[in-house]
Amino acid sequence: MTSAEAARGLFVTFEGGDGAGKTTQAALLQEWLEASGRSVVRTREPGGTEVGVLVRDIVLHHRGEVAPRAEALLYAADRAHHVETVVRPALARGDVVIQDRYLDSSVAYQGAGRVLGPREVRDLSLWATGGLLPDVTVLLDLDPATARSRLDADDKPFDRLESEKSAFHERVRAEFLALAGAEPERFLVLDASRPVDELATIVRERVAASLAR
Ligand code: TYD
Repeated sequence: MTSAEAARGLFVTFEGGDGAGKTTQAALLQEWLEASGRSVVRTREPGGTEVGVLVRDIVLHHRGEVAPRAEALLYAADRAHHVETVVRPALARGDVVIQDRYLDSSVAYQGAGRVLGPREVRDLSLWATGGLLPDVTVLLDLDPATARSRLDADDKPFDRLESEKSAFHERVRAEFLALAGAEPERFLVLDASRPVDELATIVRERVAASLAR
């Protein structure tokens, strides 16, 4: 089922490398939509449900190797449960769902490990979600060195993926940009080094246009 068939609501996802500012922009969009009277569900993957929190703990904090296919299946399992129990019901109510990361993250990150092809990772997620694609995907594009210095400024310890080498993060970035190039209608690509309020304005305009359709 496509997003149009699924619902009257709007499904907006934020994508990009770690440290690109997705959480900040998602929060600003939520604030603006709620101030204008829209009902919003803000959520994330991995970890948007109770089951998802357990999966998140494995994929982000397990010490040692997780086989690439197992890792892809864990993200897909989290996604399947999340879409079925949180995202689709919200869209069916007519809510705006603002989500930190979705299937493009799987394609970019699990694909960037070079073991799995982008196509098979995407197909796995489409199977897991019954084919649900976002209406709008905001890609906050940032060069990995800048992202790294933002993360270093935080005091939080790095998780498994944040600790990957810089070549991995370069491949993740390139894959996100390739995905955006392949679906220009769905993606809004923004230079994440621009000021927060400028980015927020552009995101609002895009979401407002989609809501007006
Ligand atoms: P995120 O929740 O954005 O991390 P944090 O809250 O620590 O900023 O994402 C966690 C990590 O999971 C991130 O490095 C990207 C990775 N990830 C995948 O590898 N595949 C996926 O399908 C998803 C959704 C995330």
